[in-house]
Amino acid sequence: MNPFTSDVIVLEDGQTPPSGVVAPPRKPKWQDTFAYIANPDRFCHAHREQYGPIFQTGVFGGTTVFVGSSRAIQMAFNGDSNYTEIGLPSTTMAMFGEYSLFQRPDLHRQRKSALRPAFTGPMLAHYLPYIHQVIEQHSQQWATTTPIRLVPTVEAVCFDVLAPLLLGVNLDDEAAFAGLPVTSKAAVKRLYQTFFDGFYGLLKWNTPLTAFGRGQQARSRLIDFMRAVVQRQRSTAEPINATASFLSMMLASQANDPEGVFSDALIENQCLLQLWASHYEVMGVVSSWIYQLGHYPELVQRLRSEQAIVLAGDNNLNHVSVEQLKQMPLLEATIKETLRTLPPTSTATRRLTKTVILDGVLYKKGWGLIAEPRLAHAIADHFAEPDRFDPDRFLPARGEGRQYEFIPFGGGVHACLGAQLAMLMTKAFAVHLLHHFDWTLLGEPTFIQFPLKRIQDNYQIQLVPHGAAA
Ligand code: HEM
Repeated sequence: MNPFTSDVIVLEDGQTPPSGVVAPPRKPKWQDTFAYIANPDRFCHAHREQYGPIFQTGVFGGTTVFVGSSRAIQMAFNGDSNYTEIGLPSTTMAMFGEYSLFQRPDLHRQRKSALRPAFTGPMLAHYLPYIHQVIEQHSQQWATTTPIRLVPTVEAVCFDVLAPLLLGVNLDDEAAFAGLPVTSKAAVKRLYQTFFDGFYGLLKWNTPLTAFGRGQQARSRLIDFMRAVVQRQRSTAEPINATASFLSMMLASQANDPEGVFSDALIENQCLLQLWASHYEVMGVVSSWIYQLGHYPELVQRLRSEQAIVLAGDNNLNHVSVEQLKQMPLLEATIKETLRTLPPTSTATRRLTKTVILDGVLYKKGWGLIAEPRLAHAIADHFAEPDRFDPDRFLPARGEGRQYEFIPFGGGVHACLGAQLAMLMTKAFAVHLLHHFDWTLLGEPTFIQFPLKRIQDNYQIQLVPHGAAA
């Protein structure tokens, strides 16, 4: 057996590895989990400098290999149901529950295919006018005489876009809460925050004393809420508009095929899980984009020129279509460069179900694997001058950002289902901001590092109406 063949070699149980293979460098340390959670950027940077893009850690217990080279990432992404399984901490898996895409590998493909229409193609075009409307309404209220807090401002928009699109209920209409077990938007938001925090509790102890226990309670209240929303929707005589929201897409699909994928429990749970997967992630990327672009007025100028050409004098931003957004490659490149330089999360947390060998390196059965954008995005073979913020690298002429090298949305069978929606929302937000405002950064922010990297709530920027200073 040649351990340096270009393929992943999968060993059967009991099979001895060929001579010449070596384990990744470094030994796991008990304190690695704390060091990683405290600052994943610093953890990845320091170990990459010392050991290269692949090294052993003790993150989340046992041995977990961090991988950053494109070949090892490809191996990590493509092992599902062959030599890897999901390897998330047990609190996270319990919070997901049995209706997530992660809990049931046997149903993963079927469920993901059934969910996909809500996050791709024509459905996104249906969502876009609503996305524009919410951003426009909020932007009219943003202060231009005093600084604004960046993250809470962006967060409010993201919640007002995503909660109705995913949960299928207008949270600003107080009447819409009549007869529901949760009675205000603020209460839904609080429950959702507690639900989210439950995924990252360190103790799997179901009591109000732990983040996990509080998360479980919030989850059951949110499920009750969704159940009531679904029942009310069914009791109206109006036909379901399948393109109105994620919820209505699932209800329409269920009505067409009552024996199909969508049980009531799957529908209720999926509404919550997609809000979990999307809201803070999108909020983080939009805020980071505003922050990054705040350093580069000349890039902002180029983006405005690109936008002006595509909009051709139509100042009604609510008309900006998916097609027009596609004609703004520089805008897309700036978002990708934001995702490259400030990736919100790690990806692909997997456990090896078999021992494998790749490029002479041994990855043992039972070990964890984490594909880390913080490693992959900082490798000079993947990105020229990786420390520079340089969106042009993503334009066709340079063509950086290849598969397995640019991985903010993961990859393989568990690749992010909402990547297109996330890009669409961020683009729409950017288009409105560029059109209406100039912005100045007020100092440098502190970042929250875990579970999602994002700017602290207290960081402020100053907006002024675009062109007012001229
Ligand atoms: C900028 C925003 C986002 C980022 C950076 C992001 C990142 C990721 C990553 C890295 C994964 C892979 C996890 C793994 O391999 O274990 C993932 C999976 C997933 N994401 Fe996203 N995500 C974003 C937005 C969204 C949105 C808007 C939605 C839906 C509304 C969404 C839904 C999902 C789902 C359902 C999965 C699991 C897919 C599967 O298991 O097959 N994400 N996301």
